[in-house]
Amino acid sequence: MKEKQKMKKNNLNIHVFHDQEAASAYVANKIYDLIQKNPQAVLGLATGSTPELTYQFLIEMLTESNLDLSKILTFNLDEYVGLETTHAQSYHTFMSENLFKFLPTLKSNNNNFPSAEVDYDKKISDAGGIDLQILGIGTNGHIGFNEPGSTSDSKTRIVNLDPSTIAANSRFFNSIDEVPTKAISMGLDTIFKAKKIILMAFGETKKSAIKKLMQAEKFDQDFPASILLSHPNVEIIVDEESYK
Ligand code: PGA
Repeated sequence: MKEKQKMKKNNLNIHVFHDQEAASAYVANKIYDLIQKNPQAVLGLATGSTPELTYQFLIEMLTESNLDLSKILTFNLDEYVGLETTHAQSYHTFMSENLFKFLPTLKSNNNNFPSAEVDYDKKISDAGGIDLQILGIGTNGHIGFNEPGSTSDSKTRIVNLDPSTIAANSRFFNSIDEVPTKAISMGLDTIFKAKKIILMAFGETKKSAIKKLMQAEKFDQDFPASILLSHPNVEIIVDEESYK
């Protein structure tokens, strides 16, 4: 694996890879190792462009190994409010199309998404907590849909999307007017409770967010990813483009 550089800044273990492919293979291996060691692992999963290749590599590894996934639980970070779960751009659809449908032993009842009807934080803690949380990062420093202004004690809740998030996500819709303005997201506290966190960022557009994260000294509500600074087990996985 072409890992170029490994360093520690505050609590964050940073791994710089040559490219997204090498970085995604590394993360897929981490998820695979966890599942292999713990067939009842609880995974926190993310959507978006960032984890797509990781999921592809993971599908390949899991398909080859025939591991039984029937006791694996998954909790997705977020979902739009106001889109049917069957909508092409819903995160339910994303997960189905990019991961779940390729893993026949995974039980759909075990794949959880936040919704206004359930106490998601309780459901996660009743499951024993998240063993490994996968995260992307927004250009504004959001994790999940915890936009700037999110408090460190925030739980799963309905949030208003930041105009920059709506603009960034409009690339997946026919027009910006179709992008939902609200979502339901795990809170910063929900994310922070995960036993291990891997945040990935790829490409030039994420460079300033990663730079800000590296320069942060403590939690700052205006840059929600800074919550990770005080977490005991975080890996930041970046490519050269987002780190240069
Ligand atoms: P992306 O989104 O993976 O599509 O860049 C990440 C995020 O907004 O959290």
